[in-house]
Amino acid sequence: MTDGTASRRIAMPASGPDRDAGFLKDVLDGLGRPVKTLPAKHFYDQRGSRLFDRICELEEYYPTRTETAILTRHAGDIAERIGRGVTLLELGSGSSVKVRLLLDVLDQPAAYVPVDISGAHLEASAARLAADYPEIPVSPIHADYNQAFPLSVKGGPERTLAFFPGSTIGNFSPEEARAFLARLGRQLGPGSRLLIGVDLKKDVARLEAAYDDAAGVTAAFNLNLLERINRELDGTFDIAAFAHRAFYNGDLGRIEMHLESLRPQTALVAGVPFRFQAGETIHTEVSHKYTVEEFRSLGRDAGWLADETWTDGEPLFSIHLLTFQAPPSRFRRTSGA
Ligand code: TRP
Repeated sequence: MTDGTASRRIAMPASGPDRDAGFLKDVLDGLGRPVKTLPAKHFYDQRGSRLFDRICELEEYYPTRTETAILTRHAGDIAERIGRGVTLLELGSGSSVKVRLLLDVLDQPAAYVPVDISGAHLEASAARLAADYPEIPVSPIHADYNQAFPLSVKGGPERTLAFFPGSTIGNFSPEEARAFLARLGRQLGPGSRLLIGVDLKKDVARLEAAYDDAAGVTAAFNLNLLERINRELDGTFDIAAFAHRAFYNGDLGRIEMHLESLRPQTALVAGVPFRFQAGETIHTEVSHKYTVEEFRSLGRDAGWLADETWTDGEPLFSIHLLTFQAPPSRFRRTSGA
């Protein structure tokens, strides 16, 4: 992911030892567009990761506790379907809380491989987990799971289970989600399995409250992206002059998260000026919602067949267990691609 050449071509003022060239490049790219955007993966610095953990505990944020309840309720069934000795790969492991529900019930897992973009958070969570499960080898991979990362799994595809909770798949567009799942299937191989949490379509007020809580934690999380730019990229954003906005876009079936400029203003990033109109927004995140059928069909298009889907009673949230069949032809790698 390092892009030294590109960042050197952009005039860069004196940088700290850990300035992230990829972050700078993404910010300059995103803010330079006619419709300003910032890539969501940069939410998760240390402060962002901590704020995200607090989001997961909010009253309004039903996905975490609902997914946890579904996992708890069906853990036995899931473990039985998975069988003995799997390598459990978690994409975007964060604090590695939910995976404990699986590790508690799986039959002699061969290894736990957490993959996360936040290095410090990953190391700390992996160490805690290794201490609590001394019999399970833990091999953290510090990587952006959206890019290729090296992975070797002992038992082969049939003994591989990928865990992708939290409806993180909804943070991709449907096209990106299909491509991501097809790529994951190719990486893990036919017969590998995927346990994935997917938030369901529901009442708009309920959805919007989950992304705009009364205590303002989600607002702080969104605004932390600008604070991170100020801290790490010599940004001059006036945080008080931006507001968190979250709303459901029914046509696209997704929550959209934006940062709205409350007045006309200019902010510098690494010396580069960006002009904002009053009311202009930076688009920071999407969270797509699916019906059970919509998601099964998306999975199918990527080569993944649903073995089982579990939901809560309302239902608010779904967990799918899928098996990778074969690369679907339109995503198959052609020579040179
Ligand atoms: N995967 C989570 C979701 O879509 C991520 C998330 C929850 C999130 N709250 C957020 C991302 C607020 C950005 C801002 O529900």
